[in-house]
Amino acid sequence: MGEIKIPIPTQPDNIWILRHLVDIDSTNSYVSELAKKGLPEGQVILADHQSAGRGRLDRDWVDSPGSSVLMSILLRPNFPPQFFYLITSALSLAASQILESKFSIPCKLKWPNDVMVADKKIGGILAEAAYTGVENSWVVAGIGLNCLQSGDELAVISQGATSILAESGIRLDEQERIDLATQIVARFATFYVSLGDPDERTGLADLYRSACDTIGKLVRVEMPGETLTGIASGISEEGNLLIETDTGMRAVPAGDIIHLRKSF
Ligand code: BTN
Repeated sequence: MGEIKIPIPTQPDNIWILRHLVDIDSTNSYVSELAKKGLPEGQVILADHQSAGRGRLDRDWVDSPGSSVLMSILLRPNFPPQFFYLITSALSLAASQILESKFSIPCKLKWPNDVMVADKKIGGILAEAAYTGVENSWVVAGIGLNCLQSGDELAVISQGATSILAESGIRLDEQERIDLATQIVARFATFYVSLGDPDERTGLADLYRSACDTIGKLVRVEMPGETLTGIASGISEEGNLLIETDTGMRAVPAGDIIHLRKSF
């Protein structure tokens, strides 16, 4: 198991540890176990393959070995739980910025958790929280990023999927995949630390809003027991999607969202 120390750019004394595994059921499940054992914030697990990878809304997240960044981060937030959704925003923002700067892949974010290139998904976030009071709460923030999938494989995953290879022609080797993961963690950590400060948190929410192309679209949000349709008019300070419906403005914490039309 390789181990990489990642100093946080804005807090050089705060060092996170990335461990690289070949095979695991799910990095999110593994890191949740570390959380239950009381390990500190900043444990990062990166895997070459997951045998039981999980997506949002109980979906599977399937990969072929070595083809993706599959990674989860243990966090013990020092800010109130109503802002935990911003962790998903921060991780998707970090991944999109690194993809743009490293590979010139122009990304947009689809609320709440997708990293998109045009209308295709290149990555997704699954953040899972346990809250039992400020002292005991933890969040596992997981990301899956398509790297080496070719056109044929992408067609099997979904018509709406893409990869670094498909977008840029760049074929990452193992070390380059680890470097990419490390850079995403460092950028995310800077954003995450800023969530602890109310002013900086507002700045991060603004950054997310400007990268999110859900705003202005006609959307349908499917939530347990309810489906909402309306114009996505903004994102609240807590990271909730604001939707103008026929019956008034609704703030939606997280749901499965479908963009119904390009924009208004
Ligand atoms: C989604 O778009 O539905 C979210 C996908 C999240 C997948 C990642 S891969 C690493 C981590 N471990 C998991 O089991 N899931 C997340």
